[in-house]
Amino acid sequence: MQNSSPQEQRDVVIIGAGAAGLMCAIEAGKRGRRVLVIDHAKKLCEKIRISGGGRCNFTNIHTTAGDFISGNKHFCKSALARYTPYDFLDLMAKHEIKYHEKTLGQLFCVNSAQDIIDMLLAECRDAGVEIQNPVSVNGVRPLPDKANAPKFSLETSKGTVTCESLVIATGGLSIPKIGATDFGHRIARQFDIPVTAIRPALVPLTLNADDKAFCKTLSGVSQDCIASVKKQSFHENLLFTHRGLSGPAILQISSYLEPGKSLSIDLLPGQNIEDELTAEANKKKTITNVLAPFMSKRFAQEWVERFSENRTPADMGSKKLRAVAETIHKWVITPSGDEGYAKAEVTLGGVNTNDLSSNTMESKTRPGLFFIGEVVDVTGHLGGFNFQWAWASGHAAGQAV
Ligand code: FDA
Repeated sequence: MQNSSPQEQRDVVIIGAGAAGLMCAIEAGKRGRRVLVIDHAKKLCEKIRISGGGRCNFTNIHTTAGDFISGNKHFCKSALARYTPYDFLDLMAKHEIKYHEKTLGQLFCVNSAQDIIDMLLAECRDAGVEIQNPVSVNGVRPLPDKANAPKFSLETSKGTVTCESLVIATGGLSIPKIGATDFGHRIARQFDIPVTAIRPALVPLTLNADDKAFCKTLSGVSQDCIASVKKQSFHENLLFTHRGLSGPAILQISSYLEPGKSLSIDLLPGQNIEDELTAEANKKKTITNVLAPFMSKRFAQEWVERFSENRTPADMGSKKLRAVAETIHKWVITPSGDEGYAKAEVTLGGVNTNDLSSNTMESKTRPGLFFIGEVVDVTGHLGGFNFQWAWASGHAAGQAV
């Protein structure tokens, strides 16, 4: 990519050439702004490339503000309303990119996530956007406040660049090995903009030694379930792994689970297993055989070994049978932690939305400074919502920079 000579000037500099940064660049470029995007990664858009198992779950057609976690649940509404999943589909149609709905409104590329990357880079070229990578930003300095003068000066590995609008689109902390950093949070703090508490989210959960050994025996087993924390529930699949618990239901609920707290799992939603255990017809079967039609035989065997005895219901009192049913419908588990940013899809928390305009993503206290995408305290559920937030917040800032 191109080099910038020392003391270059641009209208807009965007740090981070990911989903949000490129969408913002395209929109600002189309408005005739001179836009420079800087990224420290050698290979651009790695998160898009690896997302959705390589096919990028790029949006969710049912997106609403209720699909996001944020200190201010209303903050995301304006941007989401002005750039909807259908706007992104129009862009896909322009580039003739094929997609399909997998489940629950989740849209994936038919071919590969590379189609989306190629589309974004082509749109950047058409909008006259310049992208520099790999280029690192060593420092950001505010300039004296003068009308029509640049507001920020950036020291980069290619020299000095000044700009009127500076957009921070450096994402969250997940997957450090492909270039994730806390740069955005550090810039916020440098300008006295608060950052909420952050932690990994949409992340597999780890367990204490005993529970872990049990899950290991079931490693690879997937089970429909409802995972709940307080009033929040997700009805999706759970996956037992040799490290603990994963699968969509667990990733979803991980975003709501505070460290050290418990979650409750109903492993047979919609069934009443106590009725089955106490049914006259099942009196002489073993407990494993009563459970087996509702789950895999292996699951039933391991479950009974851990939580019951493999006797017949007739041999057990109703109290014991109720207790077995309760382990299945209300399995309460306290994870020891999670698999961290190396395995998390997103970072929960980020730049405090109280400091940002929900209309433009500009800081209320530092005019000219914008934050978009995952670096902001807006975290989507699993299912294409995080990309929709990246597109929508990038689009909102792109109209304002
Ligand atoms: P993004 O992370 O995309 O881009 C940030 C950019 O900033 C990167 O290019 C990085 O190199 C650059 N950068 C960071 N620090 C820098 C620095 N100091 N200097 C210069 N540049 C710097 N979401 C979804 O909706 N559907 C999905 O299918 C998936 N799948 C998925 C899989 C996996 C494995 C992960 C880890 C995540 C997902 N996600 C997802 C989440 C989604 O990828 C994420 O929310 C968006 O990419 C966020 O977009 P941003 O543009 O904010 O950050």
